[in-house]
Amino acid sequence: MPSPVLVPDDPRFDASLEHVLNSAFGPGRFSKVSERVREFATLDRTLSRVALIDGVVSGCCRIYRIDIGQTPALFLGPLAVAPDAQGAGLGQELVGASLKASETSGLGAVIVVGQPWMFAPFGFSEIPRDRVTMPGPVENRRFQWRALAANGLENLAGAVRAPRAAS
Ligand SMILES: CC(C)(COP(=O)(O)OP(=O)(O)OC[C@H]1O[C@@H](n2cnc3c(N)ncnc32)[C@H](O)[C@@H]1OP(=O)(O)O)[C@@H](O)C(=O)NCCC(=O)NCCS
Repeated sequence: MPSPVLVPDDPRFDASLEHVLNSAFGPGRFSKVSERVREFATLDRTLSRVALIDGVVSGCCRIYRIDIGQTPALFLGPLAVAPDAQGAGLGQELVGASLKASETSGLGAVIVVGQPWMFAPFGFSEIPRDRVTMPGPVENRRFQWRALAANGLENLAGAVRAPRAAS
């Protein structure tokens, strides 16, 4: 398989990404609690990454701006790789690249709802119970956070809500 190229997100990828997301997640895609967050969060295309293989859109790791309580933070996802490109390390590359970009945001933390086997290697850990609340039920072991700056998780608590600061 040719090497993937990872680039910042751009509206010209949106239609192709819809196909990738539908084929990766299947019909349950829009029932996820993360979708409720994305309804009010703000997509940050500069921090998000899209994978191109031979110019074909093959995956993404999107980053949204949110507030947690009063504190601006980031929300990771959706992370998806096209079925025919899975299992070759692209998911990890996408997470690594979007986190690297996120570390330049000046914000303290990023949260995700996802599999620990995907995110623990990047320093994510389970959020202490009831510290951060989502707009719907979430399985504790899948609800994880990671600091982007020193002390980024200290005193971070509250409801996940729409970002108040302009990005
Ligand atoms: C999850 C997803 C993004 C991973 O993309 P990918 O390119 O196949 O992932 P990678 O090849 O980078 O593999 C990531 C790691 O997870 C491991 N892994 C993959 N599936 C796994 C599973 N079901 N259980 C445990 N570990 C698993 C891989 O072995 C790899 O670890 P390794 O490098 O130590 O072997 C992709 O499978 C996908 O799009 N799935 C559907 C959408 C989805 O569920 N997204 C949310 C993910 S939490």
